[in-house]
Amino acid sequence: MKKLVILTGAGMSAESGISTFRDSGGLWEQHRVEDVATIEGYMRNPKLVLDFYNERRRQLPLVKPCRGHELVAALEQWFDVTVITQNVDDLHERAGSTKVIHLHGELMKATSTDEPNDPTQIVTLDEDHMDIHIGDKAADGSQLRPFIVWFGEAVPEIERAAEISSQADIYVVIGTSLNVYPAAGLVQFVPDHSPVYLIDPKDVPWSSGHRYRHIKKGASEGMEELTEMLKLIAED
Ligand code: APR
Repeated sequence: MKKLVILTGAGMSAESGISTFRDSGGLWEQHRVEDVATIEGYMRNPKLVLDFYNERRRQLPLVKPCRGHELVAALEQWFDVTVITQNVDDLHERAGSTKVIHLHGELMKATSTDEPNDPTQIVTLDEDHMDIHIGDKAADGSQLRPFIVWFGEAVPEIERAAEISSQADIYVVIGTSLNVYPAAGLVQFVPDHSPVYLIDPKDVPWSSGHRYRHIKKGASEGMEELTEMLKLIAED
């Protein structure tokens, strides 16, 4: 099976009702990034940050995968698919995608403030335990924090994501403004001969030299169109 790699961003979940970051009305219009999405902000006011993610986490059981998520999962019938997502929601998994790499962490997981990337410190939250409060402790006794990669923190999965991108026979980018590095730089690892597709209703600043085909539609409609195109490629 051909290797199909799909890089997704907030636009992938927009049709599920989860707001993006940089569109009008996006999350970064309602909150200051430096207050809620940086390690400095967390150290300065941990309660504000915990509450910001508690609010986003509580939204998850109320939303469901959109048609776009379902079509991404359905491509596993014809391709060896890996989803590399910047999203921290679990909608790709809930739609049935079996290989999902979360570059920026996962809303339904929590970890240690002292050793956030120590696997022994990572715990999965559930519907009975959706909030993290001041005083909740990780296994190592430090304050429990969201398992989210904040601006300025390392992106532990980026090497694996780059390696997978370098082996892609086909690459698809859906719903990301390609503003945030290192995620935005992954396209440059795609082999020159591999076709690249972009699904986004808007134009996106494209820094890599790689040519791409822009399906200027939303995630669900765009994935309907792309699925028809990819099914033809899968067979040859
Ligand atoms: N379908 C597809 N794409 C859409 C849709 C839709 N229905 N609606 C909006 N988009 C596109 C926008 O045109 C934009 O290009 O989704 C993109 C959203 O861009 P951002 O809001 O910047 O989200 P993203 O690129 O995922 O942000 C990257 O920044 O704040 C950090 O960690 C956060 O992972 C996030 C990272």
